[in-house]
Amino acid sequence: MSTYHLKNSDDYQTAYQNSINDPIDFWANIAKNNFDWHKPWDTVFDWHQDTAKIQWFKGGRLNITENLLDRHLAQRGQSTALIFEPNDPSEPHECITYQALYLRVNKMANVLKSQGVKKGDRVCIYLPMIPELAISVLACAKIGAVHSVVFGGFSATALATRINDCDCRLVITSDGGFRGAKIIDLKDIVDEALEACPGVATVLVVERIKTKIRMKEGRDQWLAPLFNAASDQCQATSMEAEDPLFILYTSGSTGKPKGMVHSCGGYMVYTAYTFKNVFQYQPDDVYWCTADIGWITGHSYIIYGPLANGATSLMFEGVPSYPDFGRFWAIIQKHKVHQFYTAPTAIRALAKESLDFVRPYDLSSLKVLGSVGEPINEEAWQWYSDHIGKGTTPVVDTWWQTETGGIMIAPLPGITKTIPTYATLPMPGIEPVLLDENGHLLEGATQGFLYIKHPWPSIARTIWGDHDRYKATYFPKFKDKYMTGDGALRDAAGNYRITGRTDDVIIVSGHNLGTAPIEDAINEHPLVAESAIVGQPHQIKGNSLFGFITLKDEPTPETEAVLHKAINELITKRIGAIAKLNEMIFCPGLPKTRSGKIMRRILRNIANGTTDQLGDTSTLLNPEVVDQIIRLAKK
Ligand code: PRX
Repeated sequence: MSTYHLKNSDDYQTAYQNSINDPIDFWANIAKNNFDWHKPWDTVFDWHQDTAKIQWFKGGRLNITENLLDRHLAQRGQSTALIFEPNDPSEPHECITYQALYLRVNKMANVLKSQGVKKGDRVCIYLPMIPELAISVLACAKIGAVHSVVFGGFSATALATRINDCDCRLVITSDGGFRGAKIIDLKDIVDEALEACPGVATVLVVERIKTKIRMKEGRDQWLAPLFNAASDQCQATSMEAEDPLFILYTSGSTGKPKGMVHSCGGYMVYTAYTFKNVFQYQPDDVYWCTADIGWITGHSYIIYGPLANGATSLMFEGVPSYPDFGRFWAIIQKHKVHQFYTAPTAIRALAKESLDFVRPYDLSSLKVLGSVGEPINEEAWQWYSDHIGKGTTPVVDTWWQTETGGIMIAPLPGITKTIPTYATLPMPGIEPVLLDENGHLLEGATQGFLYIKHPWPSIARTIWGDHDRYKATYFPKFKDKYMTGDGALRDAAGNYRITGRTDDVIIVSGHNLGTAPIEDAINEHPLVAESAIVGQPHQIKGNSLFGFITLKDEPTPETEAVLHKAINELITKRIGAIAKLNEMIFCPGLPKTRSGKIMRRILRNIANGTTDQLGDTSTLLNPEVVDQIIRLAKK
């Protein structure tokens, strides 16, 4: 029998060994003994390496929301499922019990049904961090509609691309959202996006900021009257374990965003299991993940993993700096948070501020501190451990990806060792390997490209509408190993430290940004001939974007100043403000190989000021351009 809750190091060792020796038996046990199924599966695991088709619990039937909500009602119906902490600290918070959440999800599910949404239909959710976001996600899952949540920071163009890619017919949005002192006009962005989305017939609008907005006749409807009129009873749709649960877009190094598809059964099992163990969640603990539900961290570890465990999960509408830099710590004190999960970029931003923002607050409720989204540097790790964890609360650095669905490598707090900057040990069921450039397996303490050997239950099954791209991206060289796109270092004890992306994805403030779409946006400018983006280390964001741009005509100081602004405006319009360039230089050319490929390695050295490490430039078609760019960069 596989143990669901790993309580000590022996439990972990045993589970790990069992999961590697016999992953099928291991996951079958976890899935069978800890979840409700309408019908048992026919096959635990099925994998066709030639087609990269992976299936877990095939033939099994379930509805994930029954596992998240219904099965807790008898014992924990009056326990809090979600705490909503609003942007403005003077607005009262809201505690939603499991019973209340269950009824609200039913009502929302009935609203969707009344609008003609059926099993398998895609629904786009573009909402701020308010309860309706979680409720909409769960309502889709209840009726078997596939949700596609788009982060509220994406622009109209980015939203339109995502709506069209998976052919959403219905969009759920709000009049706007509060983010610190700012107001985000979400409905205006939706209106602009929908000009390019002829397939969208219905927009449901949540009232949040209460400003006057335009409602398009026949298309837009306020949610409240529909919701209030809807029945609070709804039969859950029985789903096959492999039916899609949701699509979530992530940037690739090339081309359009990839709509990663997650399935109902495997995703549920894996996110629930990892939530329980990585956060060592105990009944009545208050757990808080600061991510936005628009990212995978919010899907897996605000909604699905916590609720599957009957946990109390806090969702916060605002930002760490509003009304001041003590807000996170004030919320921890206010709700007596036990597990706190955030990103290194937030930790760095807060560590830069005075400790006077931390000192007034009682943080003694904390039992676990988590980090996710990008490598955490040693200073940030230490600050987090010393000042928030008071030197005793374990810091778990969790490595995973949109594609992995759940946490892959992380310490178990109080159980396995934590090491600053190391994600440390793999979860049960996860077998990381390091390969060199030629695909040779590297043994022992070493550094290399990180691959995962055997599919685990929550691996994304495909890219929506483009399975060939899935195969080419994640199983490009070896049919039997998942390519993470990250580099890693392993110590003699088998602990992993993630060193960063090995492709053209740059992580800025924890957000994955592919270079190609940003370059495409820049190249749209009529004066631009060509561009290349690289990452530059940034004290708070981890990386910032540095653009090397060539113009069709010789630049003047005036055109450069105008272009600076215009290019960032273009990027904001096409992608979102998160992709704006921190620096850009206008150069006479870009260093290229004889086959015409831009040598990004050289540009990275220039951006990082490590021009003494340029290495061999003899293969360049235009070596003279390198010196010219170096001179410009120094100006
Ligand atoms: O490079 C790794 C980095 O974030 C990438 C995945 O980004 P995304 O799909 O947006 O998911 C982020 C949240 C799970 C990875 O390929 N990354 C994530 N967590 C860590 C990390 N890098 C180092 N350490 C981490 N703990």
